[in-house]
Amino acid sequence: MSEYRAVVVGAGGISDAWFNPLKEEKVQVAAVVDLNLERAQGQIAKYQLDCPAQTDLRAALRKMRPDFIVDLTVPEAHCAVTCTALRAGCHVIGEKPMAATMAQARSMIRAADKAGRLYMVSQSRRWYPLHDVIRRSVAAGVIGTVTTVNCDFYIGAHFGGFRDQMPSPLILDMAIHHFDLARALTGTDPLAVYARQFNPAGSWYAGEAAASCIFEMTNNVQFTYRGSWCSEGCHTSWNGNWRIVGTAGSLLYENDQPPVAQVVAGDSGFNRPLRNAELPAPTLPHSTMHGALCEMLDFLRTGRRPQTECHDNIHSLAMVFAAIDSSRKGRRITIRL
Ligand SMILES: NC(=O)c1ccc[n+]([C@@H]2O[C@H](COP(=O)([O-])OP(=O)(O)OC[C@H]3O[C@@H](n4cnc5c(N)ncnc54)[C@H](O)[C@@H]3O)[C@@H](O)[C@H]2O)c1
Repeated sequence: MSEYRAVVVGAGGISDAWFNPLKEEKVQVAAVVDLNLERAQGQIAKYQLDCPAQTDLRAALRKMRPDFIVDLTVPEAHCAVTCTALRAGCHVIGEKPMAATMAQARSMIRAADKAGRLYMVSQSRRWYPLHDVIRRSVAAGVIGTVTTVNCDFYIGAHFGGFRDQMPSPLILDMAIHHFDLARALTGTDPLAVYARQFNPAGSWYAGEAAASCIFEMTNNVQFTYRGSWCSEGCHTSWNGNWRIVGTAGSLLYENDQPPVAQVVAGDSGFNRPLRNAELPAPTLPHSTMHGALCEMLDFLRTGRRPQTECHDNIHSLAMVFAAIDSSRKGRRITIRL
C-alpha cells in the first residue's frame, strides 16, 4: 500500500535515476507527464508502471491529486512546471539547477510561500556518503575553524550536444554542483565573487568551458574554484578534488577516495608535528536522488524541512549567476538574492 502519490514531470535522461528510488520507497507514480508523449510512455513501459502518460500537467494534477511532483524537466521549464504544481497544492522536488534565472528562482520561492507548500531542489551530490562524512567532520571541528576551501575540476568532456553551444557550459551546467557542495561541506553562504571564464585554445566548445572563481563566503571563508570541461588527461573525479584548510589542520578529498585529514599535534618546529585525524564512518543510508527523495518523504511525515529547500538553495544558484556576471563585467560582484 503506497503512503504517497507523485506525478513525475519530464521523462528524459535523468528520469532513469528516479524511477527505481520511487519504487523502492513505495511512492505511487500516478502519472508521467512529458511534452513528448512517447517519452513518457517509454519510461512507463521500461519501469513497468501502472499509470497513464500525459502531456497536460494541469489536467494530470486535477485528476491525480498527487502529494508531490518530481520536476525532471529542462532548466528553462522548471519555473513554469514547479509554480503550476505549487499553485495546485502539491509539494515539489525538482532537479538542479533551481531555475534558468534568478528572477525565476525568486518567483518560485514566492509561489511556494503563497501556497504554503514545500519546494526542494535535488542537489544529488549532497547525498554521497563521503560528502556527508566531510560535512560532519568539518562541523565537528576536526580541522578547527575552516578558513580556505579549494576545488579543482578537470575533465575532457566531449558531449556533442547542446552543451557544446552554451555560452557558459561549465559554470551553468556543472559548477552548480561544486558551488552547492562548497556550501554544504562548510556550512557557509556566498557573499561575493571574482570570476573569469575562458575558452582554452583547441576547445571544442563554442562558449567558455573553463573558469577560475574566487568566492568570499560567510565566516571569512575563501572558496577558490578552478574548472574545465576542456582538459584532456589526468582527469579529476566528477565530484572534483577538494582541499579544506582549518585553523587546526587540513582535509583532502581526491578522486572519490575516502577523505584524509592531518591536524597539528604539537606547538614547536618549523612545520608543526602532525597526526592523522580520525574521521567518522559513512552512515548515509541512501545516496544521490534516493537520498534527496528520502528528505522529501521525511518532510511529509514529520514536517522537517529538507536541507535543499528553495529558500536555502537559491544561495547556490546565486553563485552561478554572480560568477557569470563577474566574468562578463571583469570585476568583483557582491552576491544578492
Ligand atoms: N543531478 C544530476 O547529476 C543531473 C544529471 C543530469 C541532468 N540533471 C538535470 O535534470 C534535468 C533534466 O535533464 P535531462 O538530462 O533529463 O534532460 P532531457 O532533455 O533528457 O529531458 C528533459 C525532458 O523534459 C521534457 N520537458 C521539457 N519541458 C517540459 C514541460 N514544460 N513539461 C513537461 N515535460 C517537459 C522534455 O520533453 C524531455 O523529455 C535538468 O535540470 C538537468 O540539469 C541533473
